[in-house]
Amino acid sequence: MSRNSISSLRGLQILDSRGVPTLSVTVTLANGVGGSASVPSGASTGLHEAVELRDGDPSRFGGKGVLTAIGHVEGEIAGALQGLDPGDQAFVDQVLVDLDGTENKSGLGGNAILGVSMAVARAAAADRDVPLYRYLGGPDANLLPMPCMNVLNGGKHADNSLDFQEFMLVPVGAPSFAEAMRYGSETYHALKAILLERGLSTGVGDEGGFAPDLASNEAACELIVEASRAAGFEPGRDIAIALDPAASSFENNGRYELTGAGGGTFDRAALLALYGQWIDRYPIVSIEDGFAEDDWQGFSEQTRKQGDRIQIVGDDVFVTNPSFIERGIAAGAANAALIKLNQIGTVTEAITAVEMCHRAGWATMVSHRSGETIDDFIADFAVAMGSGQMKSGAPCRGERLAKYNRLLAIERELGGRARFDNPFVKQTGS
Ligand code: PGA
Ligand code: ZN
Repeated sequence: MSRNSISSLRGLQILDSRGVPTLSVTVTLANGVGGSASVPSGASTGLHEAVELRDGDPSRFGGKGVLTAIGHVEGEIAGALQGLDPGDQAFVDQVLVDLDGTENKSGLGGNAILGVSMAVARAAAADRDVPLYRYLGGPDANLLPMPCMNVLNGGKHADNSLDFQEFMLVPVGAPSFAEAMRYGSETYHALKAILLERGLSTGVGDEGGFAPDLASNEAACELIVEASRAAGFEPGRDIAIALDPAASSFENNGRYELTGAGGGTFDRAALLALYGQWIDRYPIVSIEDGFAEDDWQGFSEQTRKQGDRIQIVGDDVFVTNPSFIERGIAAGAANAALIKLNQIGTVTEAITAVEMCHRAGWATMVSHRSGETIDDFIADFAVAMGSGQMKSGAPCRGERLAKYNRLLAIERELGGRARFDNPFVKQTGS
C-alpha cells in the first residue's frame, strides 16, 4: 500500500438544516491525511435523481435514518476503495458506480456514494496541500460565480401562498463577488423592511428567503424590484431576477395550477405566455424548471420562443445526469443546466455533466439543496468548473452562508487573478 492510498472510511449520521438525518463521511489516507464531506438533501426532488437511501425504520427519525447507508460506506465501499489512489477521482468513482451496480444508485445509496466521492476529493486535495477548487479545476480556475440569491421562498420550501418555489435576486451589476454579496445583502434587508412595514411575515423558508403570504406570485417579483430600489440599486442594471417555479410541484395531468391573484389553471401555451408577460414587465434573466420535469415539449417551446431573452435552466428535467443532458442538448430543451452533485451521485459524473453543457454552449448553475449542511464543497466546485453561476439560497442561515463565505475567501486568496463576470450580459443588454 502506498503512503497516500485510501486507508479507511468512516460515516457519521448527522442532521441537516431541516433536522433530518444525513451523512458525513471521512476518508483517511495511509499517511494520516484525511478529508470529510457531508451530503445535502432536496425537497422538490426530480423523479430520476440518484436514490437517497433511508433506513425506513418508522421508530427512528420517522424512517429517515441513514444508518444503512453508513453501513455501506464502512462495509463494501471501504473494502473496495482500500489501497486505491485518491488522486484518481475518475477511477474511484467508477469503482463506486460498478460496486453499486444500478442505474439510479439504489444499491448502495446515492447519499452513501456521494459522501465518499466528495470526501475522497477533499483528501486528495489535502494530500497535495492545495485548495479544493485548484485541485479539481487546475491553475486556471479563477472565475467566481454570480450568486443567485433566493430571497422569497414558496412552493415546497415554505408554507405560504406562493406556488413558485424560488424568487432569486441576481446582482448583475456588481464588479466583484464580494460586492455582489453586498448588493444581495442590502437588498435582502431592504426587502425585510418593506415586509415589516406592510405587516407581512418576515419568517424565513428552508433556503433563508422570506416566506410571506403574498396576493400573487407576481407580487414577489414586484417586491424584489421595490427592494432593490429601496436599497439604492437600479433594477435590471444592478439587480436582476431569476425564478425557479419548480413547475412539477404545481402541475397536475399536464395542467399548471396557480393560486392567488392572476392564478388559475394554465395549459402549456398559457403558462408560456404568462412567462412572456413577466419577462416584459420585470428584469428576469433566468427561469429554471418553468415546466414540469416530464414536459420536454414545454421546455423546448420556451427555449425556442424565449431562449434568446432569458436563460432557460433545466433542473428536475435533467437531474445533472449526462445522458438526460445529452438528450436535452439534442432536443434544444434548454440553454443551461442546474448542477447538483447529489442528483447524480459522484463528483466525476457531475464534472462530465458540466463539461458536456459548456461544450454545447450551455451555461451551468451550481446549486445547493433545500436541506443542507455547513459543507461548502459546491463553492470550490463552482470555481473549479468555471461555472460562472451558483445558487445557495438567501444571504441568511449559516448553511447557506457557508458557501457564499467560502467564495469570499477564495476570491481573496486568488487576489488579482480572481475574475467575476456578469453571465447575463446578453439578457441585461449591458
Ligand atoms: P430542492 O430544491 O433542493 O428542494 O430540490 C432546489 C431546486 O429545486 O432547485
Ligand atoms: Zn430547481
